[in-house]
Amino acid sequence: MDPYITDWLNLAIRFAHVITGIAWIGASFYFVWLDNHLETPPQEKADKGISGDLWAIHGGGFYEVAKYKLAPPQMPSMLHWFKWEAYTTWITGFFLLALMFYVGAETYLIDKSVAELTQMQAILYGLGSIVIGVGCYEILVRTKLKDHGLILGLILLIIGTLLSYGLMQIFSARGAYMHMGAIIGTIMAGNVFFGIMPSQRALVKAVEAGNTPDSKYGLNAKLRSTHNTYITLPVIFIMISNHYPMTFNHNAGWIVLMALILITAAIRQYFVLRHFGKNQPGIIVGAIAATIVLAYLIAPAKLEVSAEQLKNKVSIAQVQTIIETRCSACHSIQNTDDIFTVAQGGVVFTDIASIRQWAPRIKARVIDAKDMPFMNKTKMTAEERTLLAIWLEQMSTK
Ligand code: HEC
Repeated sequence: MDPYITDWLNLAIRFAHVITGIAWIGASFYFVWLDNHLETPPQEKADKGISGDLWAIHGGGFYEVAKYKLAPPQMPSMLHWFKWEAYTTWITGFFLLALMFYVGAETYLIDKSVAELTQMQAILYGLGSIVIGVGCYEILVRTKLKDHGLILGLILLIIGTLLSYGLMQIFSARGAYMHMGAIIGTIMAGNVFFGIMPSQRALVKAVEAGNTPDSKYGLNAKLRSTHNTYITLPVIFIMISNHYPMTFNHNAGWIVLMALILITAAIRQYFVLRHFGKNQPGIIVGAIAATIVLAYLIAPAKLEVSAEQLKNKVSIAQVQTIIETRCSACHSIQNTDDIFTVAQGGVVFTDIASIRQWAPRIKARVIDAKDMPFMNKTKMTAEERTLLAIWLEQMSTK
């Protein structure tokens, strides 16, 4: 496909994905908040079967919200459902994954230094991993384990770790992370589709038939929405992780991923508890401390430039030659790369001034994270990286 068209498709789908995602997660945050802030209602409301009520002010108006213990005596004429936010987020997410990582498998998903896959193999492994991950969850959540939240959580964590490790052995690091995101995102949408919606439909049907709804429907939906609560922050982290090569590009990127999943889930736990009036700042402090420790542990090894090497002055001509041969394909006014046809990341190298301007980012991406050139498509050598490192060092000490 013409890269210009793919870029517009990418933009349109991503735009829709982000907006629907905000609507979904926003609604999810709101309802978790709502549920956890309900207060014991006054007697007249309790007599009507209301178990919790709440007052709020927003946008210049007062809102009175009430939650029924089981269901209202009769169906209201208008009942609002929340499902399309979830479905459209999943659908747009799937298209985006397919466009970037399957249509563009050679660029984003396959890393020949990790595994020599064909495009077809990569796509099959990718889809297969989603089916396996989601399948495991859907089976487990239907067993007796659903009554033992902690054990279920631990088992899911182990499966997640195995998947994260496995994906790193077959895909590019970006591709592996994004597939973990796709698996978790699909589990979330699946929770709505396979769990929450059927339960709610059964509830509504019972009320319409004038029966007392079985409380198991409500409980089943609750379990799945609790799971969704804890995986929202991890999934958002994974979705933005592509911008942060220091996470996925680490040798043990799969451990980094699991650590960040745990940290972000803990942050969500803090907010859930806070809604209940249980303020436990220790969780936030712990999460921040864990992030700092993680950042320290995964800091890229310094590219050692000896005092000896520093004495040999690297000339501007040398630097320009390296940038021209290794970077210009994707970072010029007229790119020559077959996929990246316009200057990527807004970085254009025209002359030495522009190279100097980007020096800190060159250090970050070429010397530290080593994820530029992109998947080393232009085959930059270790010597060239060292030369650039020396030049950057000499420039900063000047
Ligand atoms: C095959 C294409 C390709 C080559 C070659 C390439 N890049 Fe990039 N570059 C990209 C893409 C794609 C992005 C945007 C995505 C991203 O930031 O990960 C990018 C973004 C960047 C950014 C901006 C992001 C930031 O962190 O501020 C910098 C700086 C950069 N590249 C430097 C370089 C340097 C220096 C070279 C040569 C040593 C190079 N790139 C070679 C594809 C390439």
